[in-house]
Formats: sequence, structure tokens, C-alpha cells
Amino acid sequence: MRTLTVPIPGREYDILIHHGLLQSAGGYIRSQLPRSQKAALVTDTNVAPLYASTVADSLTQADFQVETFVIPAGEESKCSAQLSALWSGFARFSLTRTDCVVALGGGVVGDLAGFAAATILRGVPLIQIPTTLLSQVDSSVGGKVAIDLPQGKNLAGAFYQPRLVLMDPEVLTTLPDATFADGMAEVIKYGCIADREFLDFLAKHSTRSAIMEHIDHVLHTCCRIKAEVVAEDELDTGRRMILNFGHTLGHAYELAGHYSAYTHGQAVGAGMVRAAELGISLGLTPAHLSGSIARLVEAFGLPTSLPCPHDQYAAAIGLDKKGAGDSISLILLDRPGHALAYPIAKQQLLAML
Ligand code: GLY
Repeated sequence: MRTLTVPIPGREYDILIHHGLLQSAGGYIRSQLPRSQKAALVTDTNVAPLYASTVADSLTQADFQVETFVIPAGEESKCSAQLSALWSGFARFSLTRTDCVVALGGGVVGDLAGFAAATILRGVPLIQIPTTLLSQVDSSVGGKVAIDLPQGKNLAGAFYQPRLVLMDPEVLTTLPDATFADGMAEVIKYGCIADREFLDFLAKHSTRSAIMEHIDHVLHTCCRIKAEVVAEDELDTGRRMILNFGHTLGHAYELAGHYSAYTHGQAVGAGMVRAAELGISLGLTPAHLSGSIARLVEAFGLPTSLPCPHDQYAAAIGLDKKGAGDSISLILLDRPGHALAYPIAKQQLLAML
């Protein structure tokens, strides 16, 4: 068992990484929530047949009364209709503030169930059990919960830290290759922004099977970096912005593809390569770095560039949460394993794209 703590003052919580953890999830949740009676288990139509009964049985054995809420798999579920359906379901289940919401699934489940937990009764304890690589290394840690609006992704949400994050690496074995690759974009990101040794490690282990041989190390390293950054800047006004390396341009590609042509990982992979190229043009990023990132991105089956009309770049830059007035903080690398926020006028950035 590997244990990490996210040391946010007053709201610190543990991330447990262990093979077979799903079977014993109830016991770990019980030790965090000794007075809880009910657990609202939220999952989706892909994950439910694989793991919902394992987690529900484990919760029942730990004396929780469990009701399972299954949402349709897919990004479309991160919407106000599904949020409202969960609110009503939790109310019918008579959930109280001493009970809990357990999010079992990928980023969509975690974000939606997390936002529902943050808002029902003005906040019910949340447990994250991420089942994709992307959600294990990124979205389940750090407390960002949200739904999408027609105007853009994640536009309505909250910062709401979970009480516990349980990661079972075994669940990654059932992921399709493309979904695994999606998570690898975020894994590569951590090496780029905060850990040169990890970047070198990834270059030497650039296949799915090599990563799976060292999956505990990979999850631990990514979550350690995320925990450090989030603890320093929970509300994303400073250092946390470095977690968005590759994301400003990535969001433009997602927008250009109407959120269906490219996955988040594909968009972030291409976005990191483009951000490195921009950093080189601005004289900040060492010249070799875009090639090294491109090789890694490509090794995991992700695109190194994607098409994007100029107006989609403009729209994504306009919506970017790191924007302030006419300028934006672009996350760039000044050396391998180190990122910084580089303020740039939106017009200058657009002219470079
Ligand atoms: N995924 C970026 C963050 O949690 O800040």
C-alpha cells in the first residue's frame, strides 16, 4: 500500500494506492467516516457491470446502507440534467450530511458526483474511487468538480476536496488502449512541469506494458506532484496553473473538434507539443524540448499536432480561466521538469498561432 497525503490545511486527506483495493474500499471509507449510515454510490454504465457490485458489497460489509446511481457513460452526462437527477435521487435516499457520496468511475463520474456532493445539503462527504488512468493521476485529486455548459467545459463547478481517494491499479487492466493513452498525456505533463527524472523514466518506459510494470511508481509520482501543487494553491490562483501545461491549446483543439473528434488526452498531447514550440519561439524553452515531448506523446499513440481554425484558438483563449483582461497566463517550460506561468497579450499569442 502506498499512502500520500494532500496537505490542505483543515481539509487534508489521504490517497491510497493498492492492488485489489476495491474489495476493501468499505473498510477504508468506514475508518474515515465512523458515523456515516448511508453511501450514495455513483457510477456509469461502463463501470457499473465491472466494479459496482464489488464496491457496493464492500460498503455493505462495512455497515453502510448503499444505493447505486448509474449515469450514462460519456461526457454528455456532465450536465445540469444529470446533476439535478442526482440531487433528487440523493434526497429520495434521505442522504444526510454525515453520510457520503462515493464516486466510482472516470473523470465524468468524479466531476459530476463531486459537484452533486458539494452542493446537496451544502456539502456531503465525498470519496473518490477513480477507475481510469486520467482520473487517477488528475481529476480525482485536488477538488475540482464541475459540469459542462453549452458555452464550454467545466464552466459551472466548485473546489470541493474529497475525504479520501482510493486507487486500485488493477482497474487499469480493463481500459481500452485509447483510454489508457488519454491518461498518459497527463502523466507526461507531470514529468514536463515538475520532475525531470520522471520525464527520463518515461522516455525509457514508453509502452503501456512498461508503464503497467511500474504503475505504483507512476501513480505515486503523479499524485505526489499534484498534491504538492494543490496544497500550495488550492484555489488555482497561482502555482496550480502549471497543471494546465498544454491545456490552453488543448482546449482549443477540443473546441475545434466539437468535444467529440479528439479526446482530452489527444488534445493535451498536441497542446503540450505546441506550447513547447511557442516557448522556443519566445526564447524561453530549450530548443530540443518540443522534439522530446513529441516523441513521448507519439510513443503512447497520441497525436503531436491537431488542426485548429484561428477563430477556435480565439474562442478557447477567450474562455480560458487563466485569462485576465487582455492577457493570459500561458504555461511554458523553461527547462525539462520545470514550468512557469508566462503572461502574454491574447493578441500576441493569437498572432503566433
Ligand atoms: N486538472 C488541473 C487541476 O486540477 O488544477
